[in-house]
Order: sequence, then structure tokens, then C-alpha cells
Amino acid sequence: MQAEATARANIALIKYWGKRARALNLPAVGSLSITLDGLATQTAVRFDAALETDRVVLNGREDEAAAGRVSRFLDLLRERAGVKTRVEVISHNNFPTAAGLASSASGFAALAAAAATALKLDLSPEALSVLARQGSGSAARSIFGGFVEWHRGERDDGADSFAEVLAPREHWPLQVVIAITETAPKGTGSTDGMTQTEFTSPYFDAWVDGQEADLADARAAILSRDFEKLADVAEFSCLKMHASALAARPGVIYWNGATLEAMHTVRTLRSGGMQVFFTIDAGPQLKAICEPAAAPSVRDALAAVPGVREVIVTGLGEGVTTRSSE
Ligand code: PMV
Repeated sequence: MQAEATARANIALIKYWGKRARALNLPAVGSLSITLDGLATQTAVRFDAALETDRVVLNGREDEAAAGRVSRFLDLLRERAGVKTRVEVISHNNFPTAAGLASSASGFAALAAAAATALKLDLSPEALSVLARQGSGSAARSIFGGFVEWHRGERDDGADSFAEVLAPREHWPLQVVIAITETAPKGTGSTDGMTQTEFTSPYFDAWVDGQEADLADARAAILSRDFEKLADVAEFSCLKMHASALAARPGVIYWNGATLEAMHTVRTLRSGGMQVFFTIDAGPQLKAICEPAAAPSVRDALAAVPGVREVIVTGLGEGVTTRSSE
């Protein structure tokens, strides 16, 4: 009863922000993302009747804080498999966890896949996506590679709220330049930021109302590889998400000065004819998406922004991969 899986982080171009049901992580809106090649979580699980409690080792350190969330998540799989066996989870990120780079997305996608394989659950990719979603919403998307859409779904049980591939990564090999502006853990987690926005922001309803049109624009832009159109709708979605959070009471502010400077840098490059746009999640890092030819210039320009500590360049990645090790 042991297996290993590798999953990669993803970043949303059309954002998930807000939940229609909290317990099952059901999103208020559908979303669309790209899976990243260079940011991976590798997770090994071993179910062992001799263990008295679940044990979680993250990046070489036993993590009791993470163990609670991981245990509750694994209970979903144990229940399905009809077992109560405790598990040891050993997980590594090849990128800085504290930097708020969607480690929960790759982490729960890898965990879901490894545990389902170890328990011989034989789940379809959609069923795996439904499961991963319950660990962390955006993990539903990291099951798949390339361009991925996560459906909002209508059902109360969440069975229709899973992700699927819109286009494989070969369809349009974009590059992503990540500007790290802060390495300390973020102040407001995504769930708290969403809750605050849902309950107090006068812009939350407008955010939800616009989502279907944004998803339609982004799908069309991706399928026709129309960079300007994708740049326009992705920045629109990112800035609307942040505007809704900024208008919460009290406002949720994820950016620092360097984030804002980096946004201007990307805008300046684009107005000079370079094919690049930005997106930002619930944290201060900026992700610049560009055509491969632009990547070296985008990297140099972002590295020169005061306050940018590190720049990571990556391409698009594949979905979760699993190995069972009897
Ligand atoms: O999966 P969570 O709960 O960490 O939420 C992710 C929220 C954003 O990163 C801000 C947007 C998204 O779609 O990934």
C-alpha cells in the first residue's frame, strides 16, 4: 500500500475567487489555468497498519500543522477504500513553499493521486480532480497539464465541479516568468481572503456576474492562440479579483510595492510591442506570461525591478504522474 506521485503548480489566467459551498470547496465561479513545468511537488505515501497516527514530512521536516489538514483529506480516501490504516506522507517541493507559489495546488494533487493509487481506488482523472479539489480548490486543476478549465458545477455534492484539459501544452508553448517579491508566508490565506470578499465587498457580485464572459473570451483566445486577446482578458480577470478583495471591509491587500512596480514594467514592455502580460494570485508574487521569444527580456526586466528578489522562468507542464511501489 504505497505509491508516489508528482504534480505541478498551476496559475489561473481566469481566477477562482469565492466559494459557493465551503465544506466541499465548491467555487462560486469556474476558472482557467496553465500548469507549470518547473514547480513540482513529489509525494510518497505509505499506508502502514503499524502506524498509530498519520505522519507528514514536508521538505524534510515533520509538520504537525499540516498533518491535521492532510489527515482530514486522507479520511475521504480511506472512507472510499473502506480502510482505517494510518499513513506516512513524505513530500518535497522543488520550489520555495513559503513564497506562496501555489504549493497547496501541487501538494493536494500529488497527495490525492499517490493515496488513490496506494489504496487501489482506480479513479478517473475527473474523480481525482473532484477529490483534489476538497484538499485545496486550485488542486483540482493541477491533476491536468497544459491549459485547464475547472468547472464551477451546479450540484450540491460537487460531483460536476472538476477540471479538464482545454488544450495540451504543445498547443501553445508559452513561458512564465515568476518575480518573487517576498519570501515570508503571506498575511491573508486565500480562503480567508475569499470569505472576507464574499461577505463584505460590494464588488463581489459584479465579479461573479462577469465570469462566464471572461471564460468564453479566454477559451477562444487560447484555442486561436490570440496573445493580445488572452493578455487583455487575463489582466482584466486578475485586476477584478484584486479589486473585489481590495473593496472588502477591511480591504484585503496582497500586493507590495515591488508587485506594483513589476506590473508597470510588464505594461511598459507590452506597450513597446512585447508579447507579455501579468497575473497575480493571493500573494505578492507576479507571474508574467509571454511568448518564448520574449522570455529573456522579460526575465531581465523583472529582475531589475527594485524589490524583486528572485526570478524563475518555466514553461507549461504536464498533469499528475503516479508510480505505485509495492
Ligand atoms: O486553491 P486556493 O484555495 O489556494 O485558492 C486559489 C485562489 C487564487 O490563487 C487566488 C486564484 C486561482 O484561481 O488559483
